[in-house]
Order: sequence, then structure tokens, then C-alpha cells
Amino acid sequence: MAYQTIVVDIEDDVALIRLNRPDALNAINSKVVEELTEALGAAEGNDKVRAVVLTGSEKAFAAGADIKEMSEKSFVDVFTSDMFGPLNEAFLRFRKPVIAAVSGYALGGGCELALMCDFIIAADNAKFGQPEINLGVVAGIGGTQRLTRIVGKSKAMDMHLTGRFMDAAEAERSGVASRVVPLAKLMPEAMGVARKIAEKSQVAVMTVKEAVNRSYETTLREGLLFERRVFHALFATEDQKEGMQAFLEKREPQFRDK
Ligand code: HXC
Repeated sequence: MAYQTIVVDIEDDVALIRLNRPDALNAINSKVVEELTEALGAAEGNDKVRAVVLTGSEKAFAAGADIKEMSEKSFVDVFTSDMFGPLNEAFLRFRKPVIAAVSGYALGGGCELALMCDFIIAADNAKFGQPEINLGVVAGIGGTQRLTRIVGKSKAMDMHLTGRFMDAAEAERSGVASRVVPLAKLMPEAMGVARKIAEKSQVAVMTVKEAVNRSYETTLREGLLFERRVFHALFATEDQKEGMQAFLEKREPQFRDK
């Protein structure tokens, strides 16, 4: 599939999706939203894809929603098009793991896009921010919700109210990034992690996503029950037998998604 604003490569069970608008620091316009949504749909339906890595360029993961495109829009325009809504839904529906490999700027909608992924691996030059306040607006695709749940109210307020950027060390410290690596190691690290996950039982991998994401949607008691029940359910799989048998026989497991 030939896209205009992204590049998709599938290799060794991993789809690498690269944002590709270098002249605009990967600013997210409606074409990016359309193509990313389409690429996720294609990855979901492709058995050769067991994990996804989403990345940008060294200078910018994405510097936000496209300000040029947004600047002339009216309330009715953004309300009726729902702007990033469909992309958000596509991420919520997507059942395979998605890693954001972030180098450079991840600002506004770019930061929110990274936060839609399951986890973020950051290069040491990464800068996260929600600078919408400087444009007279606020985050519109998860920044006030997802970021707040990750870093807590105080830091979220600080980021959103001042528009300041967070460097990679602060991002790791506050839970935005799961790990930080030197810029040159970002892609090998992210692809290596994705391939590692791709080797696991897909049933267990999808269950992890459901269970962790459930923690955002439910009470602790209900979440714990959900976790216990899906744990029980995995004992109906051959992969559970294989995983435990392989451990006992001191060999690597050969999962078959059964
Ligand atoms: C459109 C953008 C852009 C953006 C950068 N560019 N960010 N174009 N939308 N968000 C363009 C610039 O206009 C410029 O184009 C080129 O990319 C290079 O950018 P420079 O500013 O020249 O680079 P630099 O001086 O290195 O500064 C980098 C930067 C700065 C600090 C990241 O570009 C910046 O502040 N960008 C805007 C960040 C932002 O406010 N993001 C939030 C957007 S609102 P030309 O043609 O001049 O070379 C948002 C809302 C989300 O995301 C909610 C949606 C529902």
C-alpha cells in the first residue's frame, strides 16, 4: 500500500510505521490521521504482523497537529469532522502491541499519539510537551486524560498550563517512557523489543493489553476479578502447557497461538 504521509515496512513479524512529513516535523494533518487509521486496520488483519513500532524522524516523532491546517477551521468544522477521533478509536480497538519509538519532539497531538501506544521507548533527545496553551487551545486527543493518569495531576497541570517541554530523563522518571536509550540505539532497541514480544503467545499478549487497559476503566476489585478470570482462561490454551513445560525442560518455548 502506497501512503503519502507514512511509510510502512513489515519484517520479522513487526510492522514499522514511520511518520513521514519531514518538512513539517511530522505534524499530523488529516491525511496522516486517515493513513495511520488505515495502516492500523491493515496491521490488525495481517497475520504477518504480531507487533507494531510507530516512529518519526530523529528530529521529531511529531510536532503536533498540523497548525497550518487547523488555523482557519471553525468550531463546526472540527466538531463535525471529529478531527483525531477516528484515530483514537482505531488505537482503542487495536489488539496487537504498539510501541512508540520517540526521538526529538513529541508535542501536542504528537505527545498524545505516543501516549495512545502501549508503551514508549524514548531516545535521549526526546522532548515531550503539551504546548497547546500557547496557541489558545488545549490538548484534544488524550493529553489532559492519558498524561494525567500517567504523571499525576501536579505534573500534568504544570505541562498543560505552562506548555513547557519534558526531557527524556524526566519522561522516564515520571512514567511517560518505559526506557530511554541513546539516539543511535533507539530503532534497534524498539525493533528488538517488538520482535521479542512477537515471539510470545499472541493470546497471552492480547490478554495483557486487555487486562492492563482494563485498569483504567474499572474499580480495583472488578479489575482484579477480570485479571483472575483471564489468568484462569489461559489454562485452556496449548501455549500455557507449552510455556510451563518448556520451563521445566529448561528449553525455549515454541508458542503456536493455540
Ligand atoms: C504545522 C509545523 C508544526 C505543526 C512544526 N511545523 N510544527 N507545521 N504544524 N505542529 C513546521 C514549521 O512551521 C516549519 O515549517 C517546519 O515545521 C520546521 O519547524 P521550525 O519551527 O522551523 O523548527 P524549530 O525552530 O526547530 O522548532 C521546532 C518546534 C517548533 C519547537 C517543534 O516547530 C514548534 O513549536 N512547533 C509547534 C509545536 C506545537 O505547538 N504543537 C502543538 C500543536 S496543537 P516551515 O515551512 O516554516 O519550514 C496540537 C493539538 C492536538 O497538537 C489536538 C488535536 C485534536
